[in-house]
Amino acid sequence: MTVTREVVGKASSLVLTPAVVAHRGASGHRPEHTLDAYRTAIRMGVDDIELDLVSTRDGVLVARHDLELSATTDVARRPELAHLRRTAVADGVVQHGWFAEDLTLAQLKTLAARERMPGTRPGSAAYDGVEGVPTLDEVLAMVGAESARRGRAVGVMLELKHAAHHDAVGLPLDVPLLCALARHGLDHPWARVTLMAFEAPVLRRLATRTRLPVVQLLEAGESVTADDLDRIDEYADGIGPHTSLVLPRDRTGAIGAPSSLVGDAHRRGLTVHVWTVRGENRFLPSNLRHGETPDAPGDMAAMVRALLDAGVDGVITDHPETALAAVREAVPPRRTLGS
Ligand code: G3P
Ligand code: CA
Repeated sequence: MTVTREVVGKASSLVLTPAVVAHRGASGHRPEHTLDAYRTAIRMGVDDIELDLVSTRDGVLVARHDLELSATTDVARRPELAHLRRTAVADGVVQHGWFAEDLTLAQLKTLAARERMPGTRPGSAAYDGVEGVPTLDEVLAMVGAESARRGRAVGVMLELKHAAHHDAVGLPLDVPLLCALARHGLDHPWARVTLMAFEAPVLRRLATRTRLPVVQLLEAGESVTADDLDRIDEYADGIGPHTSLVLPRDRTGAIGAPSSLVGDAHRRGLTVHVWTVRGENRFLPSNLRHGETPDAPGDMAAMVRALLDAGVDGVITDHPETALAAVREAVPPRRTLGS
């Protein structure tokens, strides 16, 4: 169903609100950042998919959350790649394993994707090994084809991971990113593409090179002052805070009244997309859990309702089906375009 919703924000591009955004695809149901995860989310009816970008050794952008590959692929079981195992420091964190920047695209393409949390998500782990790691090009082509087939534009929220680290190793992310967007005819203000990062310098750089909306991500526990929002407002079109910055948790882990962050952002014309809403008890506030089993589903719909009540413009979630149901219930009658 095509629906009309508000268009907000200061970017001239189309920002639907409230939007349901599939975090790493429908990652509650499929191994994250696989074409199957994104397609599953699109089939569910999401407004946008979210994907994280890192670079291969030959400068190709691929959809992975981590620089290190063993948590989400079978790289550790590949004897032919054993020599690439090393210790690396990225953004001050020491890690051991296999790093995307050390593998060529050809090597990375031999890997199979697997579920990051098989104990929590055995249903998703059943798809281990079915697909590999997609490139940004492959994802954009798939989204274009699905949008055309379904007659609705599916949005893409692209997160640049470890931008400063990639700069330092001579693999800057923004250059191939802008080339890929241009190749797919997406570097214009009407494209449903949003650029996100935790690192402000790369966002400032992008804001001068593209008219696509730019979103400053904000970590849990980060203090966000009026001055911070004013500074963000200089280059960004929106913020992407952790849910706890909008719905603070008390000492027992329960949520109550929202903070003033959404209103403070909206007053500056900044949109607000919160991350990450997940359905299992272990990820939900203590007052929205069902029973004691950490991996059992809790009341994620109530979490989404509380975020919508707080006024957010988008919910980035591993369980889009639950968020979509909550949004459809909460957002009063929407009409089909043309009716
Ligand atoms: O969309 C923002 C959110 O994805 C940031 O967190 O760690 O899942 O990339 P992370
Ligand atoms: Ca992300």
